[in-house]
Amino acid sequence: MKHFLNTQDWSRAELDAVLAQAAAFKRSKAGDQLKGKSIALVFFNPSLRTRTSFELGAFQLGGHAVVLQPGKDAWPIEFGVGTVMDGEAEEHIAEVARVLSRYVDLVAVRAFPKFQDWAEDREDKVLRAFAKYSTVPVINLETITHPCQELAHALALQEHFGTSDLRGKKFVLTWTYHPKPLNTAVANSALTIATRLGMDVTLLCPTPEYALDERYLGWARDNVAESGGSFRMSHDITDAYTGADVVYAKSWGAIPYFGRWEQEKPIRDAHKHFIVDEAKMALTNNGVFSHCLPLRRNVKATDAVMDSPACIAIEEAENRLHVQKAVMAALANQ
Ligand code: CP
Repeated sequence: MKHFLNTQDWSRAELDAVLAQAAAFKRSKAGDQLKGKSIALVFFNPSLRTRTSFELGAFQLGGHAVVLQPGKDAWPIEFGVGTVMDGEAEEHIAEVARVLSRYVDLVAVRAFPKFQDWAEDREDKVLRAFAKYSTVPVINLETITHPCQELAHALALQEHFGTSDLRGKKFVLTWTYHPKPLNTAVANSALTIATRLGMDVTLLCPTPEYALDERYLGWARDNVAESGGSFRMSHDITDAYTGADVVYAKSWGAIPYFGRWEQEKPIRDAHKHFIVDEAKMALTNNGVFSHCLPLRRNVKATDAVMDSPACIAIEEAENRLHVQKAVMAALANQ
């Protein structure tokens, strides 16, 4: 049984098939691939796009979605093994995942890091526990990666460039300022899919402390060795933007400072100039800009960039619907 936890677990042929099916769903919305089937959407964190697009996507394919928010409208869950459950949690993931698997055909999970200890967060324990105990396929709705966002971005780029072959495109993943230290998930994912698709990828970040986890840097290196792309890191804004075909922005907290965010804040605050603005976009090769959303305007990117024809973030957000329908259809009918 196949899950969708990371794109890296799927072959290039499988990803290409999902993207082709997503493009077909975009042309023609309705289908019966989930007729009589259902999906549980388990949200430990807020969402606008993910929840809406999954609920509607299931409906458009004839299926039904149930949304659960543990600790709010569902019981708090324990994930530890051998824990004496005398705290907040009312039931264990061993029961939760197996019970849900008796009701639904797919389980999907959003569980952000706790932002205290990266060594703990990088184990992705909540998602892994759902995958361990579920007897139906599990989909990652964003934990420490965001594979659905990767596919939506890939489809948006394929549409923009008019080809499924993105090899040789110059892709810049730029860190941007945000008042809070955010998840590295989308950055990990952007790096993963851009290198997988054979692009020439630059990770632009303020200092070496903002490098992503070695697991994802390793995936990037492995991917370019296979795809024929390239990967490098830069701390020089002009160098990174010059000639870029794609600028993808995301803010994230520096991993060495996990749990010590008051010490990271001055470094983050000193790099507000990483905002994506017209002057930087003017250095690109008539490049496109995108972001996973939500985005704080005039903090991460200026109004002018967001409202320019170069911005494909809304197209990417729409594509969440289409790619997720393709993922659900593939997993529910394997
Ligand atoms: N990009 C994304 O996952 O959006 P939401 O957090 O609104 O679901």
